[in-house]
Amino acid sequence: MRKPLIAGNWKLFKTIGEAVDMLNELKSLVSNNKEVEIVVAPVFTALSSVSAATAGSNIRLSAQDCYWEEEGAFTGEVSPKLLKDAGCSHVIIGHSERRQYFGETDLTVNKKTKAAIAAGLNAIVCVGESLAERESEQTFSVIETQIHGGLAGLSEKMFAQVIVAYEPVWAIGTGKTASEDQAQEVHIFIRQLLARLFGKSVADAVRILYGGSVKPENVKGLMGQPDIDGALVGGASLKADSFAAITNFKG
Ligand code: 13P
Repeated sequence: MRKPLIAGNWKLFKTIGEAVDMLNELKSLVSNNKEVEIVVAPVFTALSSVSAATAGSNIRLSAQDCYWEEEGAFTGEVSPKLLKDAGCSHVIIGHSERRQYFGETDLTVNKKTKAAIAAGLNAIVCVGESLAERESEQTFSVIETQIHGGLAGLSEKMFAQVIVAYEPVWAIGTGKTASEDQAQEVHIFIRQLLARLFGKSVADAVRILYGGSVKPENVKGLMGQPDIDGALVGGASLKADSFAAITNFKG
């Protein structure tokens, strides 16, 4: 059985104080939720303080990106080892905003994913097509290329630390969610592709999250799909009550 995972990507929002306040509020709202793995991803500068606030709670910490080298003359970068040191258990890799604005490629996604795993982090590897790609019926080929490149060379053992997130770019921050059927269709495509590339046991065990305008109102329907194992939430994760409602989708 795949344990549902709900992750909040706070993107470039919240000061340290705001992030800690939100965590403290969230903690009490989700404390009884044992069935869902709950993860929040604040900005780098808030990680350490938020980590301290998660102590004794069922909330785990993620970064939003990492570099692939452990240390060295790489001004401005943060390594997986340092994310562990700051209290992270997870790291988001290859988010479409990083691909769009910061030159992330499938090759860098691959290097970062391997480095994160080696450092003992769980990698949330993002894939997803743009609106133009969907409209020109390239969705499946785009996803296939991203999965192929981003996860190249991973062993079955390494997959224990991999979570895939399908985030159609046209659904991010637009209020336009993929329908349950549209999402499920891509999720099963990803699972079958993983089975072909890495074997059935990898494909059966790996969790595939959906992201793109997930809200308390649509999470239940999405989570009811057989191949949707969780959600990566942006906007609706910034307020404790709406994020708690999403994590408590079982009601
Ligand atoms: P929204 O939930 O704001 O659409 O963002 C999704 C996302 O990018 C999460 O990583």
